[in-house]
Amino acid sequence: MYLILFGAPGVGKGTQAKLISADYHIPQISTGDMLREAVGKQTELGKKAQAIMERGELVPDDIILGIIKNRISQEDCKNGLILDGFPRTIPQAEGLSKLTEALQLPAFTCIEITVPEAVIIKRLTSRKVCEKCGMDFNPVTNPAPADHICPKCGGRIVTRQDDNEETIRKRLKVYHDQTAQVKDYYKQHDHFYSIDGNKDVEAVYQEIKSILN
Ligand code: AP5
Ligand code: MG
Repeated sequence: MYLILFGAPGVGKGTQAKLISADYHIPQISTGDMLREAVGKQTELGKKAQAIMERGELVPDDIILGIIKNRISQEDCKNGLILDGFPRTIPQAEGLSKLTEALQLPAFTCIEITVPEAVIIKRLTSRKVCEKCGMDFNPVTNPAPADHICPKCGGRIVTRQDDNEETIRKRLKVYHDQTAQVKDYYKQHDHFYSIDGNKDVEAVYQEIKSILN
């Protein structure tokens, strides 16, 4: 199963990708997570990406396509994969099509998740993450412990650099200006679905599963 989870910041791409990955035993490939790891390690890529991400802008297509090419050529992607946060521009979508052809992968199924903007802002301004393992905390289903120490790995629980309201609004603008059009690219072929992400996590997941099955 080759799947793209598509949608604006905060619609639940990462949350749903983790559930699918565990259930279907295929890797979640999140360009955002890979970039944050590079920033954390201050690699060459991380140094290039850090300021761009903090501004809520997009990292250049050639860098992103390089990361994706390297990642989806790996052995664990032979039986399927979930793309979370990629493609985000038309050149990225075109690059993925070329790569799919070169690697002789089946066509991707694209599932768009939609959530009203006010809900997105509420979700992202209240999100906390473990800076070590990336575990997600939110006041509704999984509040962060008072000591802000991750119960899973002992890491520090922090607010993501781009989760302040000003940057969230910038990310949403970038989504509307540069990413939303990618939807039309995938609508042109058969495998495009759109679902309502403004339900509880399990209800959204059931809807995704009914598409996948
Ligand atoms: P990225 O990390 O991809 O961030 P994003 O797309 O802005 O989205 P988020 O990760 O914030 O949201 P999500 O949809 O994954 O939702 P989540 O499940 O976490 O990208 C970050 C940056 O990296 C970009 O701005 C850019 O600079 C760069 N970048 C990355 N990819 C790139 C690319 N391809 N090209 C160029 N640049 C790129 O959920 C959010 C919160 O809501 C969580 O707290 C969660 O617990 C909660 N939640 C989830 N589902 C529900 C629900 N159903 N009900 C209630 N709460 C829920
Ligand atoms: Mg995410």
